[in-house]
Amino acid sequence: MKQTMLAKALISSGALTLSLSGMALAAPCRASNPCAPRSGATRMNPCAAKNPCAAKNPCAAAIADRVDTGLVLRPKHYRPYRGDQTKLVSYGEKLFKDTTLSSNGMSCNTCHQDYGAFQNTFAQPYPHFVQMTHDRANVKAVHLNEMVQFCMVVPMAAKPLPWNSKELAALTAYTASLQKGFKPNRNPCAAKNPCAAQNPCPPKNPCAAEIH
Ligand code: HEC
Repeated sequence: MKQTMLAKALISSGALTLSLSGMALAAPCRASNPCAPRSGATRMNPCAAKNPCAAKNPCAAAIADRVDTGLVLRPKHYRPYRGDQTKLVSYGEKLFKDTTLSSNGMSCNTCHQDYGAFQNTFAQPYPHFVQMTHDRANVKAVHLNEMVQFCMVVPMAAKPLPWNSKELAALTAYTASLQKGFKPNRNPCAAKNPCAAQNPCPPKNPCAAEIH
C-alpha cells in the first residue's frame, strides 16, 4: 500500500517518468547523439548551444516586453518634415550609420547592413504587416516612418524621434531608397523561424522523438 502511494507520488511529481526516459536514452542513443541531454538542466532545449544561427538572430532579444504603441504609431494631425528628397536621402544614409542615435552602441546599419534582418515584407508597399511590430505591439500594418520609430525604440533602445523632425524624415527617405533595391528571399533566415534551416541538430539526431 505504501509502495503504491510512493509510486503515485513519483509519477505525479514527474520524477518517475523522468528517470524512465533517462534510462531509455542512456543507450544506445546518447553516445551517437551530440545533442542528447546530459542532465536535467539541458533537457529543455538540448540543441540551443549548438545552434549557429542563435547568435546571429537579432530577433532573439526582441521577443520580450510589449511596446507602447503611443511611442511608435503616428500621432493624429502630425506634420512630417518636408524637404529636398535627395538631400534627405543622403542625410538619412549618414544617420543610418550613426551609433549615437541608440543607447546601446548600435546603429541601424549594425543590423541592416547589406539588407540584413529585413524580411520579405520589406518588399511590399507601406503600410504593411511586419512580424516584429505584430508580435511586440499587436500592430497589423505599419507605415515606414512608424517602422523607423519602432526600430528606434526596440532594437536601438532609444526614444522615438520627434514626428516632425528632419532626422525621422531623413531615415524614412533613406530606408525608402533601400526598399527600391530590395529583393525578397535575399535573407537566408526565414521570417517565421530564422534558425530552422540552419540548425544542424534535428536531422542528425536519431533520438529527437524521445527527447520531446
Ligand atoms: C538590433 C537589430 C536592429 C537594429 C539596430 C535596427 N533594426 Fe530595423 N529591423 C530589425 C529586424 C529584426 C527587423 C525585421 C522585423 C520583421 O520583419 O519582423 C527590422 C525591420 C526594419 C524595417 C523593415 C520592416 C518591413 O518589413 O517593412 C525597417 C524599415 C527598419 N527595420 C529600419 C530600421 C532603422 C531606420 C533603424 C535605425 C534607426 C533600424 N531599423 C535598426 C532589427 C534592427
